[in-house]
Amino acid sequence: TAARLIVDDDFRLAPVSPRLFGSFVEHLGRCVYGGIYEPGHPEADEDGFRRDVIELVRELGVTTVRYPGGNFVSGYRWEDGVGPKDRRPRRLDTAWHSTETNQFGLHEMAAWLKKTGGNELMEAVNLGTRGLQEALDLLEYANIPGGTELSDRRRANGAEEPFGIRMWCLGNEMDGPWQLGHKNAHDYATIAADVARGMRQIDPDVELVVCGSSAHGMPTFGEWEETVLDKTYELVDFVSCHAYYQPHDGDVASFLASGVDMDGFIRDVAAAIDATKSRLKSKHEVAISFDEWNVWYQGAEPSKTPSGIGNWPVAPHLLEDVYSALDAVVFGDLLITLLKNADRVHAASLAQLVNVIAPIMTAPGGPAWRQTTFYPFAETARLAKGGTVYVPKLSAASVPTKLYSDVPGVDAVAVRRPDGSVAVFAVNRSLEAPAEFEIALPEREAGANGADGKAWSEVAARTLHEDDMTAANTLEDQNRVTLHANRTAALTGDGTAVRVT
Ligand code: AHR
Repeated sequence: TAARLIVDDDFRLAPVSPRLFGSFVEHLGRCVYGGIYEPGHPEADEDGFRRDVIELVRELGVTTVRYPGGNFVSGYRWEDGVGPKDRRPRRLDTAWHSTETNQFGLHEMAAWLKKTGGNELMEAVNLGTRGLQEALDLLEYANIPGGTELSDRRRANGAEEPFGIRMWCLGNEMDGPWQLGHKNAHDYATIAADVARGMRQIDPDVELVVCGSSAHGMPTFGEWEETVLDKTYELVDFVSCHAYYQPHDGDVASFLASGVDMDGFIRDVAAAIDATKSRLKSKHEVAISFDEWNVWYQGAEPSKTPSGIGNWPVAPHLLEDVYSALDAVVFGDLLITLLKNADRVHAASLAQLVNVIAPIMTAPGGPAWRQTTFYPFAETARLAKGGTVYVPKLSAASVPTKLYSDVPGVDAVAVRRPDGSVAVFAVNRSLEAPAEFEIALPEREAGANGADGKAWSEVAARTLHEDDMTAANTLEDQNRVTLHANRTAALTGDGTAVRVT
């Protein structure tokens, strides 16, 4: 596979929003309980938060955290999770057929986020079993400084200062028949518009995310976006996209090209936004929040929820997918795809953060470790945050796939970093051959890399590659797959291009 990327300073696409490196913590399985919160664990701090997990979250470079769900939020009463812990009720969580102990709630999440480096909370309201009043109550509790029953209750519960939450999701996956309180597009659009109007009356600075489709392949896709945006366009700032990928019937070639589908999904939703904007003659901008994305082996054993009228376990092992080197390559391509669409995608949340389809795993009472997918995320966040994405001018030999026909064998994107250096992210989608990749560099900016001039003098590359694409990191072998220095990367003699295999 041969490929060439032209990085051209005359063609810059958009700044990389820090919110592109968001993640997601749902009350699901062992994401919260036994993941970020495990009182009694040798690594637990005075709040019961695992210090080892906090360290890994910092290393991962996550920015926003979407919370508390997911499907969970559609049956959640936020009041259950505040106030003295010994008075918090145990409830049925019907989304994951589990018992919610409510020992972790909004205050704990806010405290935990401070410890992970001041990450931004992206809160979801329940529009499944609840509606306008409860959403307004939660906003008042969270964001009003004081002097009202709910804001003073927050203060009495230990948070003198308001949480100041800017980003709010208006429900979760309301187009999905599996969702508690699932609605048709018209009914959802009506309640989402009402809640958005009401929330803005309390706090005009909120940024609202309206539910788009829970998958590109939903039968209502397109029509849903059109109906929902038509009613909510002026009231919201984002429309959401969710996408999970896995190989079907052993078709690894198509799986490796999952980024092609994600790219098409983003383009389709951007088209729906543009169509609504022009129909309404609006000056308002709505961006995409890709607030659930990942590889997820849905239907496999770890995703089977408990069942039985008497069986509602606390924090069961659920969705604990073990990611391979192959999965990490697909995952890296999804990140590249988000970056390539940075002009339309202003926020994204990797679903999820710990234990549940997650880059970070923990053993109960035991260690925490990095899955294969940890590496592409951490490396991309570290190198792309604060930068500006270039328009991807890429030519690549194609590889055949069943699902997407011929696709470029290499996918890549470049970012000019705040220090003047250029970061390039690339994946080889071919199952057959290594990729011969050339990057035509832009002029080096004055001062970059220590000196003025056009030619570059330094290059470094790191690659995640395994001869056995099923290789994974496990409790027994935590560092089996990691990034390695790629010594094939070399500048051409005149310092204007890089070649790497
Ligand atoms: O991330 C797991 C689940 O996937 C979320 O709860 C839901 O929103 C989606 O279907």
